[in-house]
Amino acid sequence: MINIAIMGYGTIGSGVAEAFYTNSHIINERAGQDISLKYVLDLRDFPGSPVEQVLIKDFNAILNDGDVRIVVETMGGVGAAYDFVSALLRRGKSVVTSNKELVAKHGAALFALARGSGANFLFGASVGGGIPVVRPLNSCLTGDRITEISGILNGTTNYILTEMTQNNKGFNEALSEAQRLGYAERDSSDDILGLDTCRKLAILISVITGEKVEASDIHTEGIDKITIDDIRYAKTINGNVKLIARANITQDGVWATVSPAIVTGGHPLNMVNGVFNGILIKANISGDLMFYGRGAGKLPTAGAVTADVIECAKNLNRNVSCFWTDEKRRVYDIGDNICRKLARVSCKDGERAMDKAIEKAQQIFKCKQVYVLSEHRDEFAFVTEAMPEKTLGGQIKELLECENINGILSLLRIEGTGETKSASKSETKSVSKSKTKSVV
Ligand code: HSE
Repeated sequence: MINIAIMGYGTIGSGVAEAFYTNSHIINERAGQDISLKYVLDLRDFPGSPVEQVLIKDFNAILNDGDVRIVVETMGGVGAAYDFVSALLRRGKSVVTSNKELVAKHGAALFALARGSGANFLFGASVGGGIPVVRPLNSCLTGDRITEISGILNGTTNYILTEMTQNNKGFNEALSEAQRLGYAERDSSDDILGLDTCRKLAILISVITGEKVEASDIHTEGIDKITIDDIRYAKTINGNVKLIARANITQDGVWATVSPAIVTGGHPLNMVNGVFNGILIKANISGDLMFYGRGAGKLPTAGAVTADVIECAKNLNRNVSCFWTDEKRRVYDIGDNICRKLARVSCKDGERAMDKAIEKAQQIFKCKQVYVLSEHRDEFAFVTEAMPEKTLGGQIKELLECENINGILSLLRIEGTGETKSASKSETKSVSKSKTKSVV
């Protein structure tokens, strides 16, 4: 029999306990021996809960108990969690975590500790919730060179954007629902500002390359500034706004970004809604792959943790978790990243001022089509050609010199290389003065 402990009885920790009680027979069978939950560490009391009899408040009880071979860390954060996990690995106990902050920041050091003591440090639940993506990358695609990874890696923000897009919900209402459903981080600004996605992308690139990627090196934008009007403009080009993580991996470096982007037409990520995550991988031998499933929530994440516990149980005295080293992967300057964007421009009120502003935009950006939301007489949008971010920055600066332009309301990257088409004729109306201006 193997004894395990859970540190942190929050949403995920309680889900792991539930998974072990619900599926004990199948888990024991697959692990090859019985797994017993000996301790649950939490400073809070949970009277009447199924783990009441095994609740403890002293970490040392787990550390010093030689019978405990595998520990689940679902506390979150990088303070106590890092100290506890390091101490456990040094003692030769395997650790399974769902804590992406811990893995992104200290993964290389923790793998080294695990290697040194013959234990394992597994973290499949830290990316994509219930989607098995880390282990396939580390075992099924090892004969491939992976050149590209892109995806929706955060359930909370995808839930919010889907609710705003499909049900006209306000940002705050959708966020409260995501929090109530147990999708959000302890501090939901990590979700909203793109930091959670950024950590997950850093982990995936590190798994693929075997080198450490600092999350702080990845250009990251959140969804905090996305408005209903951004979503409406996205619809005019047959797109939806999604928070997209993208990495293009070369022999010696990586382009990596996290930003809201417009995903158009039949792009596979356009079908990923609500709490679901989708991850696209381009591999030079196996071709294109897509991973899809519930990216957040108690039981999907607990399922991924449980699978890693079973993996540890099957490899009790054998380290299988050497994922990446401390050597840093180069992250290229975002300024050289080539992309197309939908630019929303605020201009002086009135048709004449707007026409002059549009003329200027067309002169600088050579855009054939501009879009105007029917009730607005003081803003318009257009799609740029593909160009490096820094060239785009220069052209925007030039545009802002036009006296009829007040500023840029938003700049949204367009995901993928597919041609951006305007919406069907019935949704758009040409304006007689300018064949290129569509009121939508
Ligand atoms: N807050 C995270 C999300 C939890 O919404 O995706 C799962 O990592």
